[in-house]
Amino acid sequence: MAQRFGLSTRSIHAGEAPDPSTGANGVPIYQNATFAFRSYQGVKAWRDGAPHFLYARDGNPTVRCLELKLADLEGTADAVATATGMAAISATLLHLLAGGGHLVASSDLYAVIKELVVSDLPAFGATVDLVDFTDLAAVEAAITAETRALFCEPFSNPLLTVIDLAGLGSLAARRGIPLVVDNTFLSPALLRPVEHGATVVVHSATKYLSGHGNVLGGIVRGAKPTVAAIRRLLPRLGGTMGAFPAWLLLSGAKTLPPRVERHSGNAAAVAKLLAGHPAVAAVRHPGLASHPRHEVARRLVGDRFGGMLAFELAGGERAVGPLLDALELPAIAVSLGDCGTLIWPLAGTSWPRLSVGFEDVVDLERDVTHALARLDSPASP
Ligand SMILES: Cc1ncc(COP(=O)(O)O)c(C=O)c1O
Repeated sequence: MAQRFGLSTRSIHAGEAPDPSTGANGVPIYQNATFAFRSYQGVKAWRDGAPHFLYARDGNPTVRCLELKLADLEGTADAVATATGMAAISATLLHLLAGGGHLVASSDLYAVIKELVVSDLPAFGATVDLVDFTDLAAVEAAITAETRALFCEPFSNPLLTVIDLAGLGSLAARRGIPLVVDNTFLSPALLRPVEHGATVVVHSATKYLSGHGNVLGGIVRGAKPTVAAIRRLLPRLGGTMGAFPAWLLLSGAKTLPPRVERHSGNAAAVAKLLAGHPAVAAVRHPGLASHPRHEVARRLVGDRFGGMLAFELAGGERAVGPLLDALELPAIAVSLGDCGTLIWPLAGTSWPRLSVGFEDVVDLERDVTHALARLDSPASP
């Protein structure tokens, strides 16, 4: 859809048109495994290159509409949807590192991605260096003649380390190496990594793109040849997205910009409250001036910093359980980007991570204040 329209308009309309056969206004769920040809002639025409869906592992009309919408929002030429965020990341890295290439990845990554790059990719013949991506000189020093990709999360999971994506994009362009960015934490409503030099953008669509915590999905976005190569690989890996998840994501993505706006406002308010509370030793939220990379974050995303934060309790690890049990609104759950607030204790630490939802902010503030007060006075009922 034309980029002259704003992001909210495109979130609603891009990739969608009334169904040509019925006029249904909204993308139907094509919940079928295979696609029939009208005649043998049709099969021959398809073999000669005429477009036709074949088998849902290779492609599906509902999924295709989602891909078009999400490519539009990210500002990339194409996109391919996957069963999970991990399917998007593994297919992308297996494609780029085929034949034993070298990967320079951020040392600050979501734990399951870290396992993939540290354990699985080397088992498939790749070599990997984990580097502190806040130090661009260290990133450059790790690049070898075999390096086929750089990989990072600009706001990392779980402790929100912030990367200078523009600097990294310039470095990647100067060295001619594809830069793969996991944009799950921010979403295209806050950051479009291709504008900063990223070559491929991957997401766990499970999170902000869905927004409702009711679906697993992933998406790879980039230039047409890269996306086409990953699209060819994906059915063999078995990581295709189904029609129903795509349909749920089409609904969720329509409200992405206003949702993320609200997540950001609520997280800023909760971060401020936590930072001023004696029961809290430290808060990690890129929007706080106390964040060591606040200015880098500001240059990257402006004045909305997303819905994620982590904080350390002054009472140490033993205070984590009582706090979680005293909170009424947040669900004690992994994942993020849900409309409801989620809290998760980071294993073996005094740090809970919060995915701040879009409940009424006064209710969140009251709930957090009340739960922290119970830590201050353990004898109270
Ligand atoms: C930053 C990030 N990337 C990727 C993933 C993996 O996504 P999925 O759970 O959809 O496979 C996650 C999951 O939490 C994540 O936080």
